[in-house]
Amino acid sequence: MSPIEIFGFISFWFILIRLTIWAFIPLWRHLRPINSIWRPSANNWAIVTGGTDGIGLAYCQHLASIGYPLLIISRNYDKLVTVKDQLKQQFGIKCPPIRILAFDFSINDIDGSHYRTIEDEIQQLRPGRVDVLINNVGVSFANADYFTVIAHRSPDLMSKMINVNVVSALMMTRMVWNEMLEQNRGIILNIGSQSALNPIPLLALYSATKAFVDYFTHTLVIESRDHSGVIVQSVLPGFVATKMSHLRPSFNVPTADVFVRSAMSRVGRSNRTFGYWWHTIIGIVYEFFNHTLGSDFNSRLAFNILHSYRVKYYRYKKIRDLYNDPIIDQ
Ligand SMILES: NC(=O)c1ccc[n+]([C@@H]2O[C@H](COP(=O)([O-])OP(=O)(O)OC[C@H]3O[C@@H](n4cnc5c(N)ncnc54)[C@H](OP(=O)(O)O)[C@@H]3O)[C@@H](O)[C@H]2O)c1
Repeated sequence: MSPIEIFGFISFWFILIRLTIWAFIPLWRHLRPINSIWRPSANNWAIVTGGTDGIGLAYCQHLASIGYPLLIISRNYDKLVTVKDQLKQQFGIKCPPIRILAFDFSINDIDGSHYRTIEDEIQQLRPGRVDVLINNVGVSFANADYFTVIAHRSPDLMSKMINVNVVSALMMTRMVWNEMLEQNRGIILNIGSQSALNPIPLLALYSATKAFVDYFTHTLVIESRDHSGVIVQSVLPGFVATKMSHLRPSFNVPTADVFVRSAMSRVGRSNRTFGYWWHTIIGIVYEFFNHTLGSDFNSRLAFNILHSYRVKYYRYKKIRDLYNDPIIDQ
């Protein structure tokens, strides 16, 4: 064999083995049995933030259906009571214990005193422990708009959005993380959004908060690499038919129930999921453009789409457009 033939032979086998590993690892992750992932028991609790509506409510229903005792944390006490009653009615005698806690995640918690309410509630679960944490609570804007308009029209919305979308995930994770690592057991799902994939102008703050949560999740995945029983996953949905999106269900906009059933089946298979088959296709296309054409391409595309929605919104609402007709402070 000539040196060139030897080089060709080694390269051929090297590339073949790399391709086989590349193709089989995701396939194996997808096909391996996941019965051991969800472990509901009287002492293994699940916490869902923002669990009275939309995606959070669907998580509560699915977790209760497999027997997880639930602690549901959301803003409105009456709605929490209604959800608890509904679950009890839905599952009858098979309904696991359900606790509710009214808590407003938008409040600034400078000294951590506000979150102590949740810490106390978690202590009440003893001798049980938190086995599952779904950091779902989130808020978005009523309409896409320029940052300058948001900053002028609703300055408090900025801190509220950071508190609800970012601080909640940090604080909730902080409360359960050490015990999960010590016991080498636990599941944390951080509900982000596809708007974390690249910067979305006119949804600047929302996409930035979701990117934060996605990055945070990745760091936890790496930091907990030696704890094989701890699962941390970033869930990045596209549009889901909920109050937040104001969209009706269709093949590309699943109901919260369909989305959650699909997303739960992906837990333990990857550290990051789009959750639903259509969102996965769109996510892969986004990522492909990000890597080939640069993230500016996707951002500009998003800008053009959202800008056209913005124009329609202003025409429909007949309100003053602070971007094109700004109020200059004297
Ligand atoms: N829907 C989508 O198309 C979509 C797409 C991508 C990502 N996501 C993400 O998925 C998550 C859930 O969204 P969703 O569409 O299900 O939203 P949703 O239908 O508006 O439900 C939000 C839930 O959070 C609660 N909540 C809101 N603000 C709160 C606060 N300050 N304190 C405590 N609880 C509060 C709400 O309680 P109340 O009932 O009292 O308001 C409700 O239970 C969010 O993180 C969102 O960013 C949604």
